[in-house]
Amino acid sequence: MTKQDFLQITDFNSAELREIFHLAKEIKRLTKEGRCPKPLEGLSLGCIFHKPSLRTRISFEVGISQLGGHSLYITKNEIDLGVRETIADAAQVLSRYLDGIVIRTFSHKDVEELAEYASVPVINALTDFTHPCQVISDLMTIEEHLGTYEGCTITYLGDGNNMARSWINAARRLPIKVRIGTVPDRHPGELVDIAKTEGADVEVIHDAAEAIAGAHVVYTDVFASMGEKQEAEERANLLKAFQVNSALMAQANPKAIVMHCLPAERGREITDEVIDGDQSVVFDQAENRLHAQKAILVTLLG
Ligand code: CP
Ligand code: NVA
Repeated sequence: MTKQDFLQITDFNSAELREIFHLAKEIKRLTKEGRCPKPLEGLSLGCIFHKPSLRTRISFEVGISQLGGHSLYITKNEIDLGVRETIADAAQVLSRYLDGIVIRTFSHKDVEELAEYASVPVINALTDFTHPCQVISDLMTIEEHLGTYEGCTITYLGDGNNMARSWINAARRLPIKVRIGTVPDRHPGELVDIAKTEGADVEVIHDAAEAIAGAHVVYTDVFASMGEKQEAEERANLLKAFQVNSALMAQANPKAIVMHCLPAERGREITDEVIDGDQSVVFDQAENRLHAQKAILVTLLG
């Protein structure tokens, strides 16, 4: 059997995505009952992180251990991927020891190259291009709160970054409407046209009130991502009209839920009042990273 990687949401078809949501729900239920299955007994997961992480790293490491396997946390200090030796060489060696590789880094191309040469599944734990694992857990959270994600309008406000592109990819596989509210300078790029050509319901809107109208889900993320923090002040000015605050939320559907992948820069892209308010589901999202990650691991390594 050929191995399957998870570098983008579009690596799975819609039936496979639905299967992952189902599995994640089932694993969550069993874990809460103290009966987490252990289908990955004895398996080793290498977790290469070139950027910091709270949720992704810990949910993968705890997740594989709850499923019976174990993990290794690998930073730049150990392997210096692509510098100490080629990515292709490292991929082939790592594949002789490990049963799966999780990687968080800057360049999406590096992750594609790692996946090409690794004979074990490679999972994208965030690149500058996309953050697909986050959206799996977010869609699971939307199902829990709204009953279904099907037909939902998901309005993402702020920087046209890896999270915005992950939502666009989700719309290429699932019946959701994705509205990206941002300034022209922070447009998420050519993926928008690719998605539209495929018939996905995706729109980029430059007016925050217009973008939020009719939204079932209001989503935001930091204005300056990891590796761009020197631009934080400038971005805060550029994107200030897209801050998720009470005044803007008053223009959304009163039943809309508010989501943020976290970490949040409170007072910048979202106010305390909103992130701590009744419509916010950010900590359910964070919890579901664990359950969703486990479903991804079982699907690819099981
Ligand atoms: N949402 C998310 O990926 O969080 P971390 O950067 O803490 O992993
Ligand atoms: N866009 C953010 C997401 C963090 C989970 C970043 O890349 O830093």
